[in-house]
Amino acid sequence: MTILQFPKDFKWGTATAAYQIEGAYNKDGRGMSIWDTFARIPGKVFEGDNGDVACDSYHRYEEDIELMKQLGIKVYRFSVSWPRIFPNGTGEVNPKGLEYYHNFVDKLLENGIEPYCTLYHWDLPQALQDQGGWENRDTIDAFVNFAETMFKEFAGKIKNWMTFNEMWCSAFLSNYYGNHAPGKRDIQIAVDVAHHLLVAHGKTVSKYRELGAEGQIGYAPNVTWNEPYSNKQEDIDTADRGRAWYVEWFMDPVFKGSYPQFMVDWFEKKGVKMNVQPGDMEAIHQPIDFLGINYYTGGVVKYKENSDILDNEGINVGRDKTDIGWDIYPEGLYYVLKFITDRYGQVPIYITENGACYNDEPKDGIVNDEGRTSFLKKHITQLHRCIESGVNVKGYMCWSMMDNFEWAYGYSMRFGLVHVNYRTQERTPKESYYWYQKLIKNNYHEV
Ligand code: NOJ
Repeated sequence: MTILQFPKDFKWGTATAAYQIEGAYNKDGRGMSIWDTFARIPGKVFEGDNGDVACDSYHRYEEDIELMKQLGIKVYRFSVSWPRIFPNGTGEVNPKGLEYYHNFVDKLLENGIEPYCTLYHWDLPQALQDQGGWENRDTIDAFVNFAETMFKEFAGKIKNWMTFNEMWCSAFLSNYYGNHAPGKRDIQIAVDVAHHLLVAHGKTVSKYRELGAEGQIGYAPNVTWNEPYSNKQEDIDTADRGRAWYVEWFMDPVFKGSYPQFMVDWFEKKGVKMNVQPGDMEAIHQPIDFLGINYYTGGVVKYKENSDILDNEGINVGRDKTDIGWDIYPEGLYYVLKFITDRYGQVPIYITENGACYNDEPKDGIVNDEGRTSFLKKHITQLHRCIESGVNVKGYMCWSMMDNFEWAYGYSMRFGLVHVNYRTQERTPKESYYWYQKLIKNNYHEV
């Protein structure tokens, strides 16, 4: 048995997002979001599920925070619902929306849990989508205004901010693959949206600096680790594109002030234009205080002409999979964090999401989710390896605190440490919760 000791002030935590847990979709003046709209379109979400009620955390947050306290987490990552604060995206602030987050954050602080707040976890106000959403550059200003309102309102209370969660999903999954709201399928729109999200991120960071707010700001991109199927150059290049689409596309502009040229060339070859206006790259290229990383899976890819925009085909090499069908590849976490550190320097990193889907149900009050515990153990072992080899990792937030609305999969896929019965709203901590509780208490991991 080896003991893997974590640094003294390592921040163990959990994560969630507003639309996935809050429910209360039309309560206290909340406006509609693109997910309220999208989920209502038949065929978009499994079994027509939506976030109208979700885990009802809007009403049950005290119970949820009690579970967090028992778990022993030091930090909690949540997101703010933009349409609760600005029902129309801009204009009048909704005081009831602010009040909810004040009560919620006060409760976290009372319980010694530090809030890590994501400003955008996909629930764009529908009113802004009606004017083109992220395709329209006006949405950038609307976002900065929303962020400024939050920074001022929660000054001194929330000291850790993330601008965007998983820009790749908001850009490509939502506008090229069409699986997420607003459900478009156009690569040009997706690339434009990606750029506008990056500009909005940079301008928000500048606004934060201008306000002189106390605390730190970063963002939370999703990454994966692709390996080539063979030693053929075309497969190696495909794996490079697979990585760069997530990593370099969303990080080079922030850390280096430019897009990766080989990907720009690739997109141009595919007929995609870069619509970058003067000043945009400078706007994006703002120093950040930390980098959030969401990591779930890694893959093996092979060149396949015109299979999709990257000419890339995923190959099943027989790795174990979680219940959502994603390959389990803990070493990928190590490789990608090493890659990021080598490329961008020793930026402080928080794992802002990592976790697994296993759909175990309670039996006699016990949820035996061995698969999840094993997944977490393996990834946390790799995380320790990262720290040992000089990656500047400061914290780890498990996705998710509780089962919740898993976007296009509705309620069919469970990622929680706590089981939620969506009929009764009963919460049952799973075995993985108790394992994580012990890890946090010890601050070491036994392998
Ligand atoms: C990433 C997203 O940020 C989160 O909303 C989602 O539930 C998890 N991954 C699991 O798919």
